[in-house]
Amino acid sequence: MLNLTTNYKARSTELPGLFRDVFAASEGEEEGRAVGALVQDLLNTTPDDDLLGVLALESSALAACVLFSRLSYDQDPRQVFLMSPVAVRTDRQKSGIGQKLISFGLEELRLQGIDFAVTYGDPAYYEKTGFQQITETFAQPPMPLSMPHGWLGQSLTGAETPIEGPSHCVNAFNKPALW
Ligand SMILES: CC(C)(COP(=O)(O)OP(=O)(O)OC[C@H]1O[C@@H](n2cnc3c(N)ncnc32)[C@H](O)[C@@H]1OP(=O)(O)O)[C@@H](O)C(=O)NCCC(=O)NCCS
Repeated sequence: MLNLTTNYKARSTELPGLFRDVFAASEGEEEGRAVGALVQDLLNTTPDDDLLGVLALESSALAACVLFSRLSYDQDPRQVFLMSPVAVRTDRQKSGIGQKLISFGLEELRLQGIDFAVTYGDPAYYEKTGFQQITETFAQPPMPLSMPHGWLGQSLTGAETPIEGPSHCVNAFNKPALW
């Protein structure tokens, strides 16, 4: 049975290793190390109010994790979170866990009063959970994007107007190479 939970802190020591292993298997060792280090940095340096993690557990074994961190738009009253990164354990991929995990996380954000979610990745996959391609004018990314077609967003409240002004991300994402 799949158990979805926001209590990511209870398993925080396992999370960098999960991301390292999953990304090493799909993108190579170097990317695995980089994403593992990013997750460690996110957990170490992000204020509690600016980070949400969702886990999928199967018989208490960690099967997947997604992290959401605050993207601040100082000129807009709406609260925006960035969904990144996402990992489903390699031997559990393509069984629907990723979509269940993401949908649960987005609903949790909505319940916490977050207005809009963005992510940066493959539109073909993230469209399955309601993300649509957005322009860099609709919602400014915190740094120039190397793959603008991967800039995706969705309203959690139904409001669809552009988000005003520049944005800034949490410290762990504040590196041009990640964008
Ligand atoms: C990408 C990932 C999170 C998807 O989770 P998952 O549990 O394997 O996917 P689901 O079972 O929910 O969804 C499967 C569907 O998505 C598609 N899909 C899976 N990964 C995809 C990808 N990278 N790009 C496009 N489509 C993808 C499958 O083809 C399948 O489509 P179908 O339902 O039409 O057959 C997971 O495979 C993973 O951790 N991959 C390695 C790390 C990664 O790339 N993370 C995302 C970038 S941050």
